[in-house]
Amino acid sequence: MSNGLLQGKKGIIFGALDQNSIAWKVAESCFEQGAEFVLTNAPIALRMGGINDLAAKTGSEIVPCDVTKDEDMEALIDRAMELYGQVDFILHSVGMSLNIRKNKPYTGSNYDFMHKTLDISAISFHRLLQTCYNKDAIREGGSVVCLTYIAAQRVFPDYGEMAESKALLESITRSFGYHYGVKNKVRVNSISQSPTMTTAGSGVGGFDAFLDFANKMSPLGNANAESCADYCVSLFSDLTRMVTMQNLYNDGGYSSTGVSEPVMSMFGDKD
Ligand SMILES: NC(=O)c1ccc[n+]([C@@H]2O[C@H](COP(=O)([O-])OP(=O)(O)OC[C@H]3O[C@@H](n4cnc5c(N)ncnc54)[C@H](O)[C@@H]3O)[C@@H](O)[C@H]2O)c1
Repeated sequence: MSNGLLQGKKGIIFGALDQNSIAWKVAESCFEQGAEFVLTNAPIALRMGGINDLAAKTGSEIVPCDVTKDEDMEALIDRAMELYGQVDFILHSVGMSLNIRKNKPYTGSNYDFMHKTLDISAISFHRLLQTCYNKDAIREGGSVVCLTYIAAQRVFPDYGEMAESKALLESITRSFGYHYGVKNKVRVNSISQSPTMTTAGSGVGGFDAFLDFANKMSPLGNANAESCADYCVSLFSDLTRMVTMQNLYNDGGYSSTGVSEPVMSMFGDKD
């Protein structure tokens, strides 16, 4: 259902790989709410072609950008400014762990892989914000959102170096949020999302069992990608114009739950 919350707003959406991607759902919801946007992903991901359907459906231009490359980021922001002047919102929905992909345990991490993981999953957010800041690419009061996970605060053994990536990502959210707020009242927030069945999510070991555990621990159940998209729309809208530098949980209550009855019942007195 559209309330026209983003009518007239222009944006950039990173990270729609296929229909399961959180960014895909965000793009669909932003389009429904009246926004126009550029879609972007790494050149190698664009070759898979799924994003073309989304671009056709939302009338979006696709601009390639490997988020680890300064020149790609510059070219993307320049193109968005050619199209829109300044943008109102940006979604950073990018993450990848090389050590997890190569099945390296946390205690046997390869440091070249770790550098690359941090660059893709966290430093890229700084690169994006700094490029926009220097080019004055975001309209006053605009909103930038990245996606994170509670492993930044608590240990989840199979999440590997992505835990450090998310901790850094959340720190960049606060630090750049300060500077961009002072400069131009631009908001910068992270959404800490429930485990969600996507390409990136399912790369984490034991993901099915973990999804089930999180669901049983959350009073509202796991938050799906569509609910994350709704939350993004609210953060891109003017209704949240004074919310910035926050890590905001979209997790059905998981982060505030010590233990739940469904989980307790799995360990209770069996007599
Ligand atoms: N799925 C989950 O359980 C979950 C939970 C919390 C947070 N998140 C976060 O949500 C975000 C989106 O992930 P998703 O679950 O939708 O999975 P996804 O695999 O659909 O999206 C990840 C995206 O990152 C892109 N990417 C990887 N390397 C890149 C590079 N060098 N340059 C540009 N783009 C690159 C991929 O092409 C892909 O589109 C990630 O930050 C992820 O960590 C996911």
